[in-house]
Amino acid sequence: MGWTEAQLGRGETIADTARVLSRYVNGVVARVYRQVNLEEMAKHASIPVINALSDLFHPCQIVADLYTMWERWGTLKGLKVAYVGDGNNVCNSLLVGCSKLGVDISVACPPKYRPYEKALKWAQENAEESGSSVEIVENPVEAVKGANVIYTDTFVSIGAEAEREERLKAFIPKYQVRPELFQHAAEDAVFMHCLPARRGEEVTDEVIDGPRSIVWDQAENRLHTAKAVLALII
Ligand code: NVA
Repeated sequence: MGWTEAQLGRGETIADTARVLSRYVNGVVARVYRQVNLEEMAKHASIPVINALSDLFHPCQIVADLYTMWERWGTLKGLKVAYVGDGNNVCNSLLVGCSKLGVDISVACPPKYRPYEKALKWAQENAEESGSSVEIVENPVEAVKGANVIYTDTFVSIGAEAEREERLKAFIPKYQVRPELFQHAAEDAVFMHCLPARRGEEVTDEVIDGPRSIVWDQAENRLHTAKAVLALII
């Protein structure tokens, strides 16, 4: 359902919509702008509420990403992911997910666009338990050293469109993923992106269409892992 098909579009509160949906269906998969709205829905629903993207987190994407890595290497332990770009919802969830499953993660971003502090704290706590490492740096070359995955996402997420010009200035060219960046990564390094990609902004055509790109496997795995999440929870 889109916003306008739900009573939310006519001003019904999130709490009331959650109460009504709880009488109709077995679960809600919600894509929202604000994490607080999702939490409000979960608070008032008596059924599972699954985050299909919020401004702060994108957990289902990261389930697909980690599955894609496991599919490629047959293990997750010992892998290193370098995330280059905006410390956004995808970056926050990647920090939490990688650290939880023992994957090292290094994020390169401008100081103004660092990940959410709480996500970083969770990641550091997870890393202590799993024995992985978490670091935030400014220089993409430093982040990708020895990395098996170079991951990026749009520099202009949903809701940040008004900041477009300012953001592109802050990120391009330094954080754009181009073929040269792979010289510093592991020999078997692959390129990942949650899609949709803004070609020519966070990544060039040569990289996303090149032999290292596994973005289509990643996209396919969104389907399989979404089904797995539903099977597990519902
Ligand atoms: N960071 C992006 C992810 C899109 C799947 C956004 O929130 O727009």
